[in-house]
Amino acid sequence: MAGQLFHVIDTQGFDRPLLDELCELTTRLRGIAKTQEGALALQQLLPHARAMLYFPQPSTRTFLSFNNACHVLGIRTSEIRDPATSSEVKGETFDDSLRTFSSYVDVIVMRTPEAGYAARAAALMDRIPRPVPIINAGSGKDQHPTQALLDVYTLERSFSLRGGIDGKVIGMMGDLKRGRTVRSLCSMMRNYRGVRLIFIAPEPFAMEPDIKAQLARHGIPFTETARLAEALPALDALYVTRMQTEWDTAGESRSMDYGQFSIHPGNLRQLKADAIIMHPLPRGPEIDPAVDNDPRAMYWRQERNGMWMRVAILLKIFRLEDRIFSLASEVLPAGPDPP
Ligand code: CP
Repeated sequence: MAGQLFHVIDTQGFDRPLLDELCELTTRLRGIAKTQEGALALQQLLPHARAMLYFPQPSTRTFLSFNNACHVLGIRTSEIRDPATSSEVKGETFDDSLRTFSSYVDVIVMRTPEAGYAARAAALMDRIPRPVPIINAGSGKDQHPTQALLDVYTLERSFSLRGGIDGKVIGMMGDLKRGRTVRSLCSMMRNYRGVRLIFIAPEPFAMEPDIKAQLARHGIPFTETARLAEALPALDALYVTRMQTEWDTAGESRSMDYGQFSIHPGNLRQLKADAIIMHPLPRGPEIDPAVDNDPRAMYWRQERNGMWMRVAILLKIFRLEDRIFSLASEVLPAGPDPP
């Protein structure tokens, strides 16, 4: 068994054995859930547990995938999505709100517009008598660790017949400066051998120096370009991101010609036949919907993978991973992994 999980705040603590175990757990879970017997067995694992989904910053897929991941395991959920419905409007502090959630639930999943708030919540938990795990579901422009985990799973699955992530060339394109998904995914790459990164971004939205320094510390080579056409033929994976307009302070993204950082049927010809295209979604104009029908488009599968990886994360936190491996042998016929 790999290391244990309690809080999930950033990518620290995710080493290769833990990543491999989470990917294996995710695949097993998906197989188990395909049968009614298996799905009911999963629902019996945590019917006594409760989760708080605290999402004052908008979300569609992270919220829904965590909500449904909880339900897959029988966990009951409560939520605050609109801060106007919380006692924070009466002046209750963030710390008191979080401590209140912890009085009622066994795990808190949270997304905030501020960087560092998940870390602050975890530090608070570590000071109180009944701490509950904190899962960061996106914090400011900084971190989105569970997105990085589902991205790692998608990459590993897509390259399962080609040695996994090791040795692959991954392009990350778009608003890399303000995109928390690419920041977290870059940090996870320290666990893979021979990976090379190509950052494709307009100069004002280039990857931040802290991530570049981290990559340099771990010996992960990266190059930067503003020309997609130069990078495309070398890529095994292209991770596209949208312009993060919600962080604009003076409409800085409005002057950007994002067409140069977009993928459409016309430039697909330059991409290897066995490459994949990913996107954390939601998308803007940077992926033409006509690309959706290309077999290399992996983003809808990536989105579906998200719920199952989040089930695996919850199982790891509640220390039920061994139960999954035994359930798999009880309810799955012997044979290769499900597709
Ligand atoms: N990828 C992602 O975080 O999507 P949502 O903002 O819809 O949760």
